[in-house]
Amino acid sequence: YRELPDFPADFFWGGSTSAYQVEGAIDEDGKGPSVIDANNVGRADRTAYAVASDHYHRYAEDIALMAEIGFRAYRFSIAWTRIIPDGDGEINPLGVAHYHAVIDELLARGIEPIVTMYHFDLPQALAEKGGWSNRATADAFVRYAEVLYREYGDKVRWWLTINEQNMMILHGTALGVSTGDAADAKRDLYQQNHHMFLAQSRAMALCHRMLPEAKIGPAPNIAYVYPASSKPDDVVAADDWNAVRNWLYTDLAVHGRYNSLAWAYLVERGWEPTIEPGDLEDLASARPDFVAFNYYATQTVAASTGTSADLAARPGDQQMVRGEVGLYRATQNPNLPTNAFGWEIDPVGFRTTFRALWDRYRLPLLVTENGLGAFDTPEEDGSIQDDYRIDYLQRHLEQMRLAIADGVEVLGYCPWSAIDLVSTHQGAAKRYGFIYVDRGDDDLRTLARTRKKSSYWYADVIATRGRAL
Ligand code: BG6
Repeated sequence: YRELPDFPADFFWGGSTSAYQVEGAIDEDGKGPSVIDANNVGRADRTAYAVASDHYHRYAEDIALMAEIGFRAYRFSIAWTRIIPDGDGEINPLGVAHYHAVIDELLARGIEPIVTMYHFDLPQALAEKGGWSNRATADAFVRYAEVLYREYGDKVRWWLTINEQNMMILHGTALGVSTGDAADAKRDLYQQNHHMFLAQSRAMALCHRMLPEAKIGPAPNIAYVYPASSKPDDVVAADDWNAVRNWLYTDLAVHGRYNSLAWAYLVERGWEPTIEPGDLEDLASARPDFVAFNYYATQTVAASTGTSADLAARPGDQQMVRGEVGLYRATQNPNLPTNAFGWEIDPVGFRTTFRALWDRYRLPLLVTENGLGAFDTPEEDGSIQDDYRIDYLQRHLEQMRLAIADGVEVLGYCPWSAIDLVSTHQGAAKRYGFIYVDRGDDDLRTLARTRKKSSYWYADVIATRGRAL
């Protein structure tokens, strides 16, 4: 790799977190409840999020460690319910002040803030009024965006709208989006999806009007889809699933239109959203400056063999249940290893994903997540020897470098996660961070911070602009 070009001098080397997974302090300083807080009442992992990594109180110490590693960027989310506790009412000055302090700390250390406006934590008060099924939630989001731009616009240049909208639609119950139990639940879900697209487009347009120097983009989860074989039907299934799982979201963000495969999928099932007059114009009027994406692995699919009737007759048939009847059947890729949680690991697929996004949009790309969840165990001397994480990151960085050599414009790399935090549904013991946080799932211990071995390796990579890879 020595012959490959160095990473650009202004490359955003950094790391990512999200508010509800790292901050804790769930009812401090006037914060309102989010759907995450409400969903977790009475559940063991509510305790986990209640304190999380205590970043709300320890952000200065954490940012100092990020600076020590050499971070040039920190991608984090602002909790909507700290800024506007009920989502669309009064502004909470203490919440606003908190993020001023975080942003000032970053800027003082030469770290660029990359701000996600919404990372799964919808205000509970809006959820009670119908959540994203209610078009008014899109208006509330745009108003919230306006508050953020007004408050932080002279300090924050890089904005991300909605984290992983596609995962909220595809795994709604786990991520705070109501999936309802009505017969038309799927139609409702795609109506929610439509309202999120509107919210995103309007927030992007508003950003460009209010902050001409700022850059804004979407942050979907992209898992490039391979066909399980060269059988033509498997290739069609992979195309379909790419269109519905991935490109639906990026096409809407970039071109402001539903791609024809995804639209046909919705129409065939009677799930197409109601589009009000003016919506298509709103969608088409917004232009992101870049596409951010979270990448963990590819997916591999075969043609769906069953029908809905087969599934109804044999509801436990995993072969049919994995995937979506009539669209695709999910398969394990026999060429890929898996991590401790069964997630496939595919560094080459990272390069393929870069190339696919670049070919489709010709917009600069920003990696807002990538990383390895693992059970890290401190040694007797307290050090954390996470060579498996170094190996994972190294192999992905090599592929990212090849993608840059392929001609793809890459703005930065902010893996998940800057510091240990609580997983979406697998607790605090599933760790991703460069910095270890001393806590267990139920036992908060000291919450002390320790740099893992991977953080020293990453510091070298950053300092040498990738030559240390
Ligand atoms: C992404 C999310 O889907 O993956 C993060 O944006 C999440 O919020 C990350 O934590 C890793 O997933 P998990 O389920 O292991 O926490």
